[in-house]
Amino acid sequence: MLKKWLIQPLIAGLLGGPAFLMAQDVKFDPADVDRGKRLYTSYCARCHGLNMVSSGAGFFDLRQFPADDKKRFVGSVANGIRAMPAWSSQLKPEEIDLLWTYVVGSRKK
Ligand code: HEC
Repeated sequence: MLKKWLIQPLIAGLLGGPAFLMAQDVKFDPADVDRGKRLYTSYCARCHGLNMVSSGAGFFDLRQFPADDKKRFVGSVANGIRAMPAWSSQLKPEEIDLLWTYVVGSRKK
């Protein structure tokens, strides 16, 4: 007989599993990662550091940004968050997309 303690993790695994795998399996086009990197260097590096190596000092370390939360990334970048200015007047949505591609796609697996 299957007990509750056995079924619940099983269901959580079934629901969480595929989403987790999808997040891990996203392939990024290296050309897009490159374009994102160029945008990053122009707009973001002065605060977040060259190659995302943060100086600390209250600037979010983008190497730690959760890879499964593009929605939060796009929202924070477009609208700003606390000490960070909004970028939606300077960057097109496609450019914010490329920045996401760089931030997540350049990580070593
Ligand atoms: C003027 C300095 C500055 C620049 C330029 C800057 N940021 Fe930030 N950014 C910050 C600071 C400060 C924080 C931390 C905000 C906080 O949580 O208080 C931050 C936080 C973030 C976060 C985390 C948001 C969250 O949801 O926690 C992301 C993502 C981010 N920045 C992306 C970018 C990108 C992409 C660019 C280039 C388009 C950029 N930033 C340019 C200062 C900057």
